[in-house]
Amino acid sequence: EKGGYDHYMFKEIQEQPVSLAQTIEGRVEDGLDLSPETLAGVDSVQFVACGTSYHAALYGAHQLRSWGVEATASLASEYSVYPPPMEDALVVGVTQSGETADTLDALSVAGDRGATRLAVTNVVGSTAARESDDTVFIRAGPEIGVAATKTFSSQVVTLYLLAREVASVVTDPPAAAALDGMDELPDAVETVLDGSRAARLADEYLGEDGHFFLGRGNGVPVAMEGALKFKEITYEHAEGFPAGELKHGPLALVTEKTPVFAVCTGRDAGKIESAIREVQTRGAPVVAIAPRTMTDIVEVADDALTVPAVHPDLTPILTNVQLQLLAYHAASSLGRSIDKPRNLAKSVTVE
Ligand code: M6R
Repeated sequence: EKGGYDHYMFKEIQEQPVSLAQTIEGRVEDGLDLSPETLAGVDSVQFVACGTSYHAALYGAHQLRSWGVEATASLASEYSVYPPPMEDALVVGVTQSGETADTLDALSVAGDRGATRLAVTNVVGSTAARESDDTVFIRAGPEIGVAATKTFSSQVVTLYLLAREVASVVTDPPAAAALDGMDELPDAVETVLDGSRAARLADEYLGEDGHFFLGRGNGVPVAMEGALKFKEITYEHAEGFPAGELKHGPLALVTEKTPVFAVCTGRDAGKIESAIREVQTRGAPVVAIAPRTMTDIVEVADDALTVPAVHPDLTPILTNVQLQLLAYHAASSLGRSIDKPRNLAKSVTVE
C-alpha cells in the first residue's frame, strides 16, 4: 500500500506530478466552479488556517496582494480571539482534512458575523465542506503521512487559481500570469523528484545547533513550511522566517553549527544574496534552493538544490518539493518515525 516505498510520506511526495495534474485538470480553462454568490460584492479575502495549510494561505494572500487585492492570512487559533472587521470579505478556510477544530471555529465566527465562507479542502463530506457556503476541493487524493506534502502543493495551486478568479472580479490580474505554465507544472515537479542531491545534503547539512530557513516574498511561506516539515519529522530545531528579519534578532544565533537554507523563488534575488553573505560571514554553511537559472545565488551559496525555471508565481511549489525531500532524508538518516511523528496527529480535532 506504500507503493513499495518505506513510508507514506515518501510515496506522497513522489505522487505529486499526478496529484497536481488532478488538481489542475480543467480548471485553467473552466475555473474553480464557484457558486455565483461566492464572489458577489467581495472586496477582500481573509484566509484562516493552521500549520502547513497556513503556509499555503500565506502564499494565497501574497498572490492576491501582488494583484492589488486586499488579503490577509491568519492563524485560525488567533483569528477568533479578536476577529477583524469582515464586511464584504470572503473568509477562506484552508484545511486539508476539513476537520481542524481551530479552523472550523474561525469559520463559524465568520459565519456568525455574516461573512461568506469558502472551504478549500481535500476531503469530500468533511465538516468544513458541509458547514461553509461554498467549497473548492484540492483533489490531491488521500494523504496518510502526518506530514502534509502533496496536499500543500495542491493547496498552493488551488489558491493561485482562486486568487486569479478573485482578482478578475476585484481588480485586473496581469495578463502575464502563470496560467500558461500551469500545465507544465507536473512535469517540472517530476524532474525535482530524483532527490539524490537532497538526500546527500540532508546528511551533510545536519546542524548541531539548529537550522534556519530564509525566504522573501512568496518564498517566505516556503521557508516557513520547510522549517515546519523539518522540525516535525526530524525533531531537530528549525526556524523559518523572512530574510529581512535576520538582523533583527535571529542573526545572534547564526554560527558554523546552524546551516541556513535560503529559498529564492525568482524575485528579489539580490536581497537573498545579501542574506546569504551575511550568514556566511558568521560561518554558517548555506544551501540555496533556487531556479537553476539564478546562477548568482547558486554560485554564492556553498551548495544548491536547484529547480527548473518556471513562472516565479509557481516556483514556490518546486522549491518546496526540494525541502520536503530534504526533511524526509534527514529524518530517515536519523531513524525517526516519519509517518507518525511523536506527539502529533494527522487531524487536530481539539482546540
Ligand atoms: O487538516 P489541516 O490542513 O487543517 O491541518 C492543519 C495542520 O494541523 C497540518 O497542516 C499540520 O501542520 C501538518 N501535520 C504539517 O505537516
